[in-house]
Amino acid sequence: MAATGSEQAGPTAYYVSTPIYYVNDAPHLGHAYTTVAGDVLTRWHRQRGEKVWYLTGTDEHGQKIMRTAEANGVSPQEWCDKLVEEAWKPLWEHLNIANDDFIRTTERRHTDRVQEFVQDLYDRGEIYQGGYEGPYCVPCEEYKTYGELLDGEGEFEGQKLCPIHKKPVEMLQEENYFFKLSAYGPKLLEHYEANPDFIQPESARNEVVQFVRQGLEDLSISRSTFDWGVKIPWDDKHVIYVWIDALLNYATAVGYGSDRRRFDETFPADVHLVGKDILRFHAVIWPAMLMANGLPLPRRIAANGWLMVGGEKMSKSNLTGISPQELTGHFGVDAYRWYFLRAIAFGQDGSFSWEDFSARYTSELANDYGNLASRVAAMVNKYFDGKLPASAAHGEAEQAVVDGLAGAVREADRRIGEELDFAGGIAAIFDFIKQVNGYLTEQAPWKVAKDTSPEAQARLATILYTAAESLRACAVLLNPVMPETSAKLWDSLGAEPSLGALADQRISEAADWGRLPAGSTVTKGAVLFPRLEEK
Ligand code: MSP
Repeated sequence: MAATGSEQAGPTAYYVSTPIYYVNDAPHLGHAYTTVAGDVLTRWHRQRGEKVWYLTGTDEHGQKIMRTAEANGVSPQEWCDKLVEEAWKPLWEHLNIANDDFIRTTERRHTDRVQEFVQDLYDRGEIYQGGYEGPYCVPCEEYKTYGELLDGEGEFEGQKLCPIHKKPVEMLQEENYFFKLSAYGPKLLEHYEANPDFIQPESARNEVVQFVRQGLEDLSISRSTFDWGVKIPWDDKHVIYVWIDALLNYATAVGYGSDRRRFDETFPADVHLVGKDILRFHAVIWPAMLMANGLPLPRRIAANGWLMVGGEKMSKSNLTGISPQELTGHFGVDAYRWYFLRAIAFGQDGSFSWEDFSARYTSELANDYGNLASRVAAMVNKYFDGKLPASAAHGEAEQAVVDGLAGAVREADRRIGEELDFAGGIAAIFDFIKQVNGYLTEQAPWKVAKDTSPEAQARLATILYTAAESLRACAVLLNPVMPETSAKLWDSLGAEPSLGALADQRISEAADWGRLPAGSTVTKGAVLFPRLEEK
């Protein structure tokens, strides 16, 4: 949505966020999954010509981080600084994540504003003092209800376990401050009803609606038994509950309380990407906090499923033993970015397997896509000295390719850009690649080339132009998913001098046939997807 005049009404940026991750350890495949998804969404919308703001960051307060730091004999701040600089930021750089900002909850730009927000709620009468006793899961940083706890077995016999972490919960009894969350149930239900796309996918939405219908309890928003957090401004014996602190990052990072103009241009988010484990925080508590403060609600909370290991959510304690870097070392960064989004329906759980990754890499990336690119470049070089020939009149076969491309662009744009169906959108593009491969096999330009008559040469030119122009579109469409590979292809097609930078190519123009001009210099270039080494 572009602003039309100097008076700006409402947000102008397409604002995407990831959860801010706990820095108790280095990032694993599960964290990278959400962050790559956000990056692809971001790059897609940028190529739609929209202004986009992509935010990620780290969640650094709370008992979990404090205990990890203690166990490692350093202060929590030292622990966070080290992990952020040595593990988190480098991984996002390595994976080519194009985030616009990285917020850390220990930064003053965040902590000061969190205090203001909570003070404001207090002044509005939304917060009161009370006592609470209940089972708390430190890995979740959340009070649990008795009903959801599991009975421990084996080493945990006789204890109650968190249903997510399968670890014993701790009984806590504290004097706390409470946010009047219970008052917001009806308003939240009204909002879900009026905005059916607010929570995605459907299964996630249903779960939240059912949860809220059961009735909400007030939320304890402070802790007093430890001090690694933001202090409650009117009572410094308490720190603000880490989830309240964390959720506010989505506001503080874009200028809440500090930069009005930027805040108005960006807030609220168009998409908060979250794992389904933290859906309720985002779809219940966060909107209630915003309602209580008179701020607008995000447009969409999109929950992704879990990467699983042995039937359980992949987590620090049950990792595959495979780090993101190990996979990128073997398959390359682009293939890594592509694989998880391609192989797992977004919103559903999925398992990772080395075999499946290898098989898809070889068949779809190396054979279908990579070979197409290298065959076309080789033939333009062999038959036309590397100058892209002009196409003669289209026959039916060419028209089918042109139509196939138009369909693929429409489908991919709807699925990736609107529905966050990355697997479906990528499949649409790869179906088109298959179609172009089929076209080449049928037209057999290597046979046509043997006939030196002008008609046959014109036919050869048409076939190769059609294939190269199709590749031009593939480079544009796959750039959000595989930016390095797309840049190589863009280069090999000699597209930049006439069409400009790849990142500036619009999705809406990807299907405009004939953009790559005849005469472009096509070079053989680097192999897009090299054969995998034996593992
Ligand atoms: N710090 C909170 C989030 C606060 S947001 C205001 C938190 N952090 S976390 O480090 O535990 O990361 C949670 C997120 O990482 C999940 O919501 C999900 O997006 C991602 N994933 C972590 N493990 C995952 C899988 N096994 N599979 C898919 N995503 C996973 O919760």
